[in-house]
Amino acid sequence: MNEKKLRLALVGATGLVGRTAIKVLEEKNLPIDEYVFFASSHSCGKEIVFQGKNYVVRELKEDSFDEGFDFAIFSAGGDTAKKYAPIAASHGCIVVDNSSAFRMDNDVPLVVPEVNPEEIKNNHGIIANPNCSTIQAVVPLKPLDEKYKIKRIVYSTYQAVSGAGQKGVDDLENGIKGLPNKKFPHPIFNNCLPHIDVFLENGYTKEEEKMINETRKILKRPDLKITATTVRVPVINCHSESINIEFENSFDLGDVISTLKNFPGIIVEDDVENNVYPLATNSTGYDEVFVGRIRRDYSVENGINIWVVADNIRKGAASNAIQIVEKLIENM
Ligand code: A2P
Repeated sequence: MNEKKLRLALVGATGLVGRTAIKVLEEKNLPIDEYVFFASSHSCGKEIVFQGKNYVVRELKEDSFDEGFDFAIFSAGGDTAKKYAPIAASHGCIVVDNSSAFRMDNDVPLVVPEVNPEEIKNNHGIIANPNCSTIQAVVPLKPLDEKYKIKRIVYSTYQAVSGAGQKGVDDLENGIKGLPNKKFPHPIFNNCLPHIDVFLENGYTKEEEKMINETRKILKRPDLKITATTVRVPVINCHSESINIEFENSFDLGDVISTLKNFPGIIVEDDVENNVYPLATNSTGYDEVFVGRIRRDYSVENGINIWVVADNIRKGAASNAIQIVEKLIENM
């Protein structure tokens, strides 16, 4: 590594993902010499305490990247990313963007560090962080695809309200108190909403389409058969997913379990006799993906079902982006 002083900009520092990114950056203590925190004009001047020091939040502007940054983590939505990420990249800054703005662009790597770290070097200044529900799914899918070749995937998700930002959390907390919903189209308290992001002409939601397309891109399996139903549930944090997987090749279930156990970033929690399986309440605050209920699907020749839970704000967003920055620093 060279001796250059490294500077990192965190864009969207006041949001749900941004605040978690600050926590994760504190925990990881990367070899970054200077941090600058950006948000919209509403937050300009707010104070953030980071590593024991006070920082003043700056308003993001077109000239914000003139002063020179090595890395920027963007968690400020698609419109902000579309406008400012290319400006940052044109100044030599490598942007890791949490929005869906660039994920499917051919010249933008879509990276989960445990799964396809080799793609990082192919960046042209922008790297996309996948959708939260895709990140936690592809971690267990990758080693299984390498070993048994996946033929088809059926995703059914149970997604936390934190995935919809602070306003999503507010809707659940207000709903518990009997107050009306503002963010979701229906009350989320006491409900499951089969509706995440907007509906498309084909009847699927954009969230379902993201899971399908992003999984294909990350696993480098453009023709993989995948279907998805994504559901918002009244859980504050951590997405849970039932994943049904059909393989081309035969497998031994014990071998599947040890393959998952040996893959980085996975913790297998599977002891049904003692009621042990991944739970949202136990997974909050962790960067690992928890996998359990690993069992054969007897309705097909070579199939399994798994239950996958992860902290959607950490591994599904902030921590994955920071892991990408860690790899960028390692590769310098
Ligand atoms: P602000 O708090 O000033 O509005 P969340 O996903 O929790 O809603 O957070 C979104 C984050 O993106 C917030 O930090 C928000 O800042 C920031 N943001 C939204 N629009 C812009 C913008 N135009 N420029 C910079 N940051 C923005």
